[in-house]
Amino acid sequence: MEIRFAKGVTSRQGRTGWPEGTVEDEHGRGGFFGEVSMLYRSHPPTRWTRIEGDLKPRAMNSLRVQPTDQIDPAGIPERILHNPDVHLYVSRRREPMSYYMRNADGDEIHFVHEGRGTVETDYGPLPYETGDYVVIPKGTNYRVVPDVPDNFFLIIESRTGPVGFPDRGMFGQHVPFDFALLHAPDPQPAPPETEPREYEIRIKRADRWTRVYHDFCPLDVVGWTGNLCVYKLNVRDLRGPSSDRTHLPPVSYATFQCPGFWVVTFQPKPFETAPDAVRVPSYHRNVDYDEVIFTHSGRLMSRSEELGTGTVTLHPAGIHHGPNPKAFEAAEKLDRMEAYLVNVDSEKPLAWTQAFIDAEDPDYWATFSDQAVRVDGGRA
Ligand SMILES: [Fe+2]
Repeated sequence: MEIRFAKGVTSRQGRTGWPEGTVEDEHGRGGFFGEVSMLYRSHPPTRWTRIEGDLKPRAMNSLRVQPTDQIDPAGIPERILHNPDVHLYVSRRREPMSYYMRNADGDEIHFVHEGRGTVETDYGPLPYETGDYVVIPKGTNYRVVPDVPDNFFLIIESRTGPVGFPDRGMFGQHVPFDFALLHAPDPQPAPPETEPREYEIRIKRADRWTRVYHDFCPLDVVGWTGNLCVYKLNVRDLRGPSSDRTHLPPVSYATFQCPGFWVVTFQPKPFETAPDAVRVPSYHRNVDYDEVIFTHSGRLMSRSEELGTGTVTLHPAGIHHGPNPKAFEAAEKLDRMEAYLVNVDSEKPLAWTQAFIDAEDPDYWATFSDQAVRVDGGRA
């Protein structure tokens, strides 16, 4: 609707100058794109005393997940969250894969939280390092070959269509990054076999596995041409927008857009300095998206404390989240947000696996409210 109403006590513009004694609650459709009203409430909507049901904010420590690929070169990543459009996995490979992977279920984005090595692919070898997003199109043969023992990938699998880039609108060609920095490999076919051996390709389709065996290395491509390939970019090269005058919505930092979900990279940025700009995000119940955030480093401006690297939070659509009680004060003490966080916003509800539950912090929901009593008896 083009029309807009303003009833009762409001600020002059959303995200600025909350009226005395109120907090701002953003009630919007389509993430931060659609029709929206800002509601000025006299209590934080996260000041709950208790929650019964599935929609409580959740957090888990993904560093406690132990996928089989951590101890076995033939192992596989461990799934933690999933819906029909997107599955999230943890991979902690220490040794080179003993097989070649071909995912026929979807494109993969490997976010390298920690590690260094090479992803050998049909298109050529792609070196990886901490902070890389390595994008592997559906159907590509590949093998991860670490150089160091400690590797930690958050794998984002796009199940209903390709990984693409969001429309840049009025940002132009160089925000949030120059496409020229996307790195694609040169072909490097495996050398001829010196002794007979068997090569295994493991194909995944509808989460069922087929194994194909050859007596030659499947990475035998001597050249390629086209616009479908593996590529990578590193988060340190992202140059997202910032504003001195207003708090920009998360979607401003979107890196990838896929059917049914977005991948957003929160990155270092200066805090707003305009006197009436509110540095913390408004409360919101984001009714059209479940929100997942993986902490690579630092913390969001909506938190007064670091959750710890490797933390995965899930804020389901429908229930509020927003600044925790001490975040307002904490944001005033800093000039910048120094953090890299990977945010996956999904349209369909996400389900969590036993691996997620096993590493979960049962008290996370209580950190939003100074009225909630945690399982351990403490308060925010
Ligand atoms: Fe959010």
